[in-house]
Amino acid sequence: MKIFLDTANLQSIRMYNDMGLLDGITTNPSLLAREGGDPQKTMEEIVRIVKGDVSLEVVSTEYYGMLEEARKLKRYGSNVVIKVPMTPEGLRACKTLTSEGMAVNVTLVFSPNQAVLAAKAGAKYVSPFIGRLDDIGQDGMSLIAELRQIFSNYGFKTQILVASVRHPMHVVEAAKIGADVVTLPPDVLGKMLKHPLTDIGLKNFLADWEKLKQENPKVRF
Ligand code: G3P
Repeated sequence: MKIFLDTANLQSIRMYNDMGLLDGITTNPSLLAREGGDPQKTMEEIVRIVKGDVSLEVVSTEYYGMLEEARKLKRYGSNVVIKVPMTPEGLRACKTLTSEGMAVNVTLVFSPNQAVLAAKAGAKYVSPFIGRLDDIGQDGMSLIAELRQIFSNYGFKTQILVASVRHPMHVVEAAKIGADVVTLPPDVLGKMLKHPLTDIGLKNFLADWEKLKQENPKVRF
């Protein structure tokens, strides 16, 4: 399973990229707005830092506008993936951009039928938003299971990119189902790293080492 970071925060991107954890990045207008500053500079910098796929979203809602924005975004780097919304215009843009050799991520997917249509339009990724389904009392993770089954039934190449992830158990469940990618807010990735027994164990190891040094001052590392 690939791990993407779902953020436009450069500090988090650098930190987790330096640990070798990032297969890619997803951004959206809300995440860019959260960081403030010049969104174009931020997007360019993300594309420069991360070697894997970086999804950058168009903000036009009509076909020609999407194509124009996509071509501009693609200039940031060869690893740019164009994110389009799951609308008729978005699917038409997906088809055109894909035939021009661009990779497309269809976002705001909430049903199996939407995902199938995005795959048919040539998307490299579909992004089902599981947390937002949970928010309205539907089971987001069962959508992932349905997509895995349908895509496997027909050998669809489109990758299932689990988005709107809210906590580490979402990641475990997505991995068990066989999702291709999870895109994680930095705080969720941070929580995956941590375990209280790791912290306690390390503290005890270091305390024992100090004790050993005090008992035998010649001990060196
Ligand atoms: O990748 C999509 C994601 O950013 C949406 O997450 O938490 O706003 O539903 P959320």
